[in-house]
Amino acid sequence: MTTFHFAPIQGHTDASYRHFHKEFYGNSPQITYYTPFIRLEHDEVRQRDSKDLTSSLNSGMTLVPQIIFRDEQELNALIGILKRTGCKEINLNMGCPFPLQTGHGRGAATISSPIMGQAVAEAVSNNPDITFSLKMRLGLNDPDEWKILLPFLNDVSLKDITVHPRIARQQYTGDLHLNQFSELIGESVNPVVFNGDIRTPGDIDRILSEFPKISGIMIGRGLLARPSLIEEWTSGHELAPSERKERMLEFHRSLLSHYNETLCGESQIISKIKPFWEYAEDEIGRKAWKAIRKAGNIAKYHSAVAMIK
Ligand SMILES: Cc1cc2nc3c(=O)[nH]c(=O)nc-3n(C[C@H](O)[C@H](O)[C@H](O)COP(=O)(O)O)c2cc1C
Repeated sequence: MTTFHFAPIQGHTDASYRHFHKEFYGNSPQITYYTPFIRLEHDEVRQRDSKDLTSSLNSGMTLVPQIIFRDEQELNALIGILKRTGCKEINLNMGCPFPLQTGHGRGAATISSPIMGQAVAEAVSNNPDITFSLKMRLGLNDPDEWKILLPFLNDVSLKDITVHPRIARQQYTGDLHLNQFSELIGESVNPVVFNGDIRTPGDIDRILSEFPKISGIMIGRGLLARPSLIEEWTSGHELAPSERKERMLEFHRSLLSHYNETLCGESQIISKIKPFWEYAEDEIGRKAWKAIRKAGNIAKYHSAVAMIK
């Protein structure tokens, strides 16, 4: 059975978003949610990230914390901190393409490092009480870099390896390297999850028929744009665009009223809620989408959302 995963997206998939997504769309089938990456700052996890991970909004969902690290020390320190908070499962980020992270040796910069490959394999072996999964790209600069990392990963047991088949230099656009992805599936001992550019139920079908050996599908921007996507595929019933918008507006209303209750001041609320629509231009239409982007206060924001018909 195909497993489904909601990709972590900084600035979007925080505890509140995950909670209301789960409430509105997440029941059938089970979706695994991930925290955006957690990293060390002055030897500690940022308070914001701790709050997100331990929020009561996470209850009742499958949530996996994700960590990003540049060396063995950071990796082991983060695993230790998460273990002390009671985590049983950890996702290792070896794919982040943000120059701020790769420039410091984290994320996709770890793929071509045998030292990091070894460190990850040792961390997995040394923590048998934790289930590990991993998220990676094919490489930082070259789509064959994964060949350096994979032998280390093949030595240990991982729940799965999610692969976004781009190199970090491409960021989030450009062609997917599907030949290399196919080669990676053939060489991985651990289950492989596909991640990249899935926007419609038809895209899910296409990937499953092209890569029948994958164990699951992870979706990021496509789910932010169309939160019902997995539900639609699973039920075998595509919703009409008007139904999708109606459902999305209900989801939005709940999230906004939660922000109204928990955040302080108009500018904080508006800066938290606007990203809700960032990837939904095709779903809600260019006019409403642009008006939402431009809205400088709550009154204008409400008028812009009212343009979604
Ligand atoms: C703004 C932004 C923030 C992201 N933050 C994270 C993150 O914290 N951890 C991570 O593993 N991936 C992160 N990603 C990558 C996504 O999880 C996903 O791999 C990528 O968007 C490709 O999948 P998609 O085409 O389904 O969106 C981020 C992507 C974007 C666009």
